[in-house]
Amino acid sequence: MHHAAAEPMKVRDSGMPNEAPWDSLFDVDLILERLDIDASLVDVAELGCGYGTFSLPVAERISGTLHTCDIDAAMVARTNERVVHAGLANVVVECRDVVTREFGLLPASQHGCLLFNILHYADPAVLLRSAARCLRPGGRLFAIHWRHDPATPRGPSLQMRPRPEQVMAWAAESEVLDLVSEVLDLPPWHYGLVFARAGAPDEDLGERPAEGLR
Ligand SMILES: C[S@@+](CC[C@H](N)C(=O)[O-])C[C@H]1O[C@@H](n2cnc3c(N)ncnc32)[C@H](O)[C@@H]1O
Repeated sequence: MHHAAAEPMKVRDSGMPNEAPWDSLFDVDLILERLDIDASLVDVAELGCGYGTFSLPVAERISGTLHTCDIDAAMVARTNERVVHAGLANVVVECRDVVTREFGLLPASQHGCLLFNILHYADPAVLLRSAARCLRPGGRLFAIHWRHDPATPRGPSLQMRPRPEQVMAWAAESEVLDLVSEVLDLPPWHYGLVFARAGAPDEDLGERPAEGLR
């Protein structure tokens, strides 16, 4: 199942470099392995698909559906194209501004949420709170970002990019995200953090949304 947004597409340029150079900046398999992103995760949400660099490999690993979105319609179109080409049936791609409209997913419905290379944008604490809201108790929030290192070949300016301690402080503001990893080294250029939504996994045994509902 994959579709573009049913709502008006916003036109906003993500400012991303071209696709091939962007994709070459990551060892995607290593990153997903070190974060333990695997079939134990059922449904997962992603904020900011970009070119789908992580969306497709994540969808291939998890056992449920990946809901992803981007504020930039061109990124949504490109990710959809890659999803179709790969023949993946468990990805939903939507044009959405998560700052103003959240994820559009039922509260406490997701087993994981990806915030990859996104926490230098405005309102990171708001993004983390929105992510926490859509996670089930015990669900995992995965954040990766550029290392605070002038040698990195791309990435936002050093002033803008958050250090791990800053991400931890924003997560603490949500009052429901507990750090459950060390600062993970994701060579060549990134670090990662994993948080768990407070509460026991069996605290929320609500039924999964019916087909078509999110
Ligand atoms: C630096 S890119 C990272 C893309 C992808 N997560 C990755 O790591 O390859 C950030 C993406 O987030 C999108 N974005 C920024 N603000 C957003 C928002 N408020 N809602 C949804 N997407 C947003 C941008 O358009 C861009 O495609």
